[in-house]
Amino acid sequence: MKNAIALSTALLSTCALLLTACGGGSNTSSNTNNTSTNTTTNTANTTGTSGTIPIGIAVAQTSNVALLGQEQVAGARIAEKYFNDQGGINGTPIKLVFQDTAGDEAGTINAFQTLINKDKVVGIVGPTLSQQAFSADPIAERSKVPVLGPSNTAKGIPEIGDYVARVSAPVSVVAPNSVKAALKLNPNIKKVAVFYAQNDAFSKSETEIFQQTVKDQGLELVTVQKFQTSDTDFQSQATNAINLKPDLVVISGLAADGGNLVRQLRELGYKGLIVGGNGLNTSNIFPVCKALCDGVLIAQAYSPEHPGDINAAFRKAYVDQYKKEPPQFSAQAFTAVQVYVEALKSLDQKSKVNKLELPALRTELNKQILTGKYTTPLGEIGFTPVGEVIQKDFYVAQIKMEADGSKGKFTFLK
Ligand code: ALA
Repeated sequence: MKNAIALSTALLSTCALLLTACGGGSNTSSNTNNTSTNTTTNTANTTGTSGTIPIGIAVAQTSNVALLGQEQVAGARIAEKYFNDQGGINGTPIKLVFQDTAGDEAGTINAFQTLINKDKVVGIVGPTLSQQAFSADPIAERSKVPVLGPSNTAKGIPEIGDYVARVSAPVSVVAPNSVKAALKLNPNIKKVAVFYAQNDAFSKSETEIFQQTVKDQGLELVTVQKFQTSDTDFQSQATNAINLKPDLVVISGLAADGGNLVRQLRELGYKGLIVGGNGLNTSNIFPVCKALCDGVLIAQAYSPEHPGDINAAFRKAYVDQYKKEPPQFSAQAFTAVQVYVEALKSLDQKSKVNKLELPALRTELNKQILTGKYTTPLGEIGFTPVGEVIQKDFYVAQIKMEADGSKGKFTFLK
């Protein structure tokens, strides 16, 4: 098993370092067009000839954003098996229909249109980035198709429309925790340098919260450095910041750029604490910054140790398959599928979902999602009327790398 882990780490390492488009693997394509039997009319029974209920998964399976999206695919697949083993929707299985969004807006719009018009899904889980959601979610809204964001954390996502909700708690709730944890680890922090990716909606939203938190904690914001998520060279921004002698660096970006920035800050001699935002919240940054990832603090909307049967089942399924603890992005994707399953089950008890025409089903399902309460791996969650997740428990983890940089893990702080 060790060899298998080493191999997958090496593959990810190659993907991340070369910044190439890494495919989602054979499990990506097999599911892409598998509900085409059910596409003839908008008013066909949802379960149609295939006898399953199609739920769309539109996340990044290729591009650098797949460093996050791969974890979402893993969580969604575990949910599909888990809930179908439990009897699906009162006896009818669900079928996840995957459409790769890749890393941009155009790919996401394409994936949404295919899921809505061709695959005739009852609702969509996705996309990976807030940047993509602001472009694609309005399409689902106009088509009256429910969307559950599994990882979109920018301000303003649920407000995109009546059919848009999310299970991913927003930056305003999650991000301040990591700055407070840094202050607990080092109460002498005074000067803070902030970095953010200016071409990414989530990073812009998160940095506002980070910058406000820095001020609220009475710290001095010595510089705000900007970059692009496509950048690989951060020498000038890192040097500018290091010259101001910060005690804390806070980064809002995505996985490949964020990992490279961490590495270059350390290579240039920065020794203080680093807080990474939600876009760095994946072990897929380990091959990018290797041993230099050590010590990075990242706030979490999920803990593998959260009590309860559903998290125990999810955690076991994940550990059995991947030989490591489940990450936040997988837990949130599992949760989004769970919300669809439980809302569909409740709706089915009121009016059989395979008797409803698709437009009515989508609309009724959307209402049901927003009124339900769900016991999930993230804990008890519900939604505000606008579709914002209501969640109680948040955490902060610190990356611990082995000295040679070959392996690492997230250690949860008490
Ligand atoms: N949380 C990140 C976003 O919203 C992935 O884009």
